[in-house]
Amino acid sequence: MTTRLVLQHMRPPPTTTKGRRKLVDKHGRVARDLRVSLTDRCNLRCTYCMPAEGLEWLPTEQTLNDAEVQRLIRIAVEKLGIRHIRFTGGEPLLRPNLEGIIESTAALRTDEGKKVHIALTTNGLGLDKRVEGLKAAGLDRVNISLDTIDAQRYVHLTRRDRLAGVLASIDAAVNAGVLPVKINAVVMPGVNEVDIVPLATYCLSKGAQLRFIEQMPLGPRDQWKRSDMVTADDILTYLRDAFILTPAQEPRGAAPAALWEATSTTDPGLNGQIGIIASVTHPFCGDCDRSRLTTDGTIRNCLFSRTETPLREALRTGASDDELASMWATAMWDKKPGHGIEDVGFLQPDRPMSSIGG
Ligand code: 5AD
Ligand code: SF4
Repeated sequence: MTTRLVLQHMRPPPTTTKGRRKLVDKHGRVARDLRVSLTDRCNLRCTYCMPAEGLEWLPTEQTLNDAEVQRLIRIAVEKLGIRHIRFTGGEPLLRPNLEGIIESTAALRTDEGKKVHIALTTNGLGLDKRVEGLKAAGLDRVNISLDTIDAQRYVHLTRRDRLAGVLASIDAAVNAGVLPVKINAVVMPGVNEVDIVPLATYCLSKGAQLRFIEQMPLGPRDQWKRSDMVTADDILTYLRDAFILTPAQEPRGAAPAALWEATSTTDPGLNGQIGIIASVTHPFCGDCDRSRLTTDGTIRNCLFSRTETPLREALRTGASDDELASMWATAMWDKKPGHGIEDVGFLQPDRPMSSIGG
């Protein structure tokens, strides 16, 4: 972790005369990136995320309506210094009026006077038909989740026979130019290590940037064991069977992926970047610049935090923009220095990943 001034005993900084403040925490990190979960529902049932029957979905009255989400996003951008927004879920394409929410977000201006950078993390189902409209609404980039390109393993992993639809969406996203199209692949022991090289070959041939993600303890409790997990080093070892890898030159900043330049050992024309996100073995918590808003209107300062700050009641009982901004700033101030997955006594968050937002 980077060394920073630790401001343990201070309080969050006050607003400026323009009523603005930054989302700073007591370890000196500034949150500029907001993840907004637009629904906890999903049309896949990935084994590492959900049970076959799905989860108990949040009742609609407990979830933020469009006006409420749009108001909190405006406060985040105009009062709290957020510059990047990623819409997630569950599956955000299932949110009615996603295009409208993106359009209103695109109309906002950051503290630097720029458009907010807008991204979407999706399982890709139905994206092929909507990507042009989403781009027109203001979408800049997409991350599509894909853990295998083997049709049978896709069914086994997601419990749905939808691989063809995802592949069509990857093509459509590349053609629409919402670039770089990033593909997220979670690697699970005994399940899809065999997919590491085929996924890399496929993504390089499509001009999509593949990022392997170490599996984190967020899904069903029996699905993750530290001793069994496929680590970033293991993934590199698999990749080196088929690719020459050299570290990419770009500065990493707050981006979680370590980037590699990959060239096929059998076809030098097949080359490009591959990322590896070592969330467990090399956590990037020291550079984390994220804040999270769940679909039921709660602020989480970390994927793994065990406390949350609900804004929904305040929002529905007349709180002003400044009051909501102040609650949000206080929630971020208490962000822990790290996720502590490797610590003895680590406890998974009570919410599933599909409800927190990836
Ligand atoms: N560990 C790592 N990544 C996960 N995702 C979902 N659950 C986990 C987990 N336990 C990924 C999904 C998707 C993104 C939102 O997070 O595959 O790409
Ligand atoms: Fe849906 Fe994503 Fe969970 Fe898979 S990992 S079930 S795509 S929310």
